[in-house]
Amino acid sequence: MKVLMVCLGNICRSPLAEGVLKETAKREGLDIYVDSAGTAAYHAGERPDRRSQEVARKHGIDISNQRARQFEREDFALFDRIYVMDKSNYDDVVSLADTREDAAKVEMILNTVYPGKDLSVPDPYYGGNDGFEKVFQMLDNSCKKVVETILAEKQ
Ligand code: 4NP
Repeated sequence: MKVLMVCLGNICRSPLAEGVLKETAKREGLDIYVDSAGTAAYHAGERPDRRSQEVARKHGIDISNQRARQFEREDFALFDRIYVMDKSNYDDVVSLADTREDAAKVEMILNTVYPGKDLSVPDPYYGGNDGFEKVFQMLDNSCKKVVETILAEKQ
């Protein structure tokens, strides 16, 4: 199973999602491949935002080695599931899908916790540190569901 986390810049939300999912899967004994990407290239090559690194570290997760990259059409062939943070990420990623099967790999990550509601993980980039903690909690809950779902499918 290969899972890709996607946001806009790949420096705030999706690097946290990648770190949290790797940690949650490890804790549950689930062996999966996890990566993240951004729909935009502005921050390509950069480490995660300092505030994302800090909130991750506070929860015992080191994301400092990640580097931002842009989402590419080829990612549809590489990944089984693509979780996006908000509706504009969803539209941007789905617009690159060549087939209905590829488009069906894309899901709003909060739908794992609130099915069908299409809620967004708010972009914390322009806000304060508490925005990052809130995002962490949303992603922590979502990643538990992602792992539960994958484990249930393996039964
Ligand atoms: P992210 O946050 O999509 O969660 O990584 C953002 C980071 C940078 C920008 C926007 C959102 N930006 O406009 O530079």
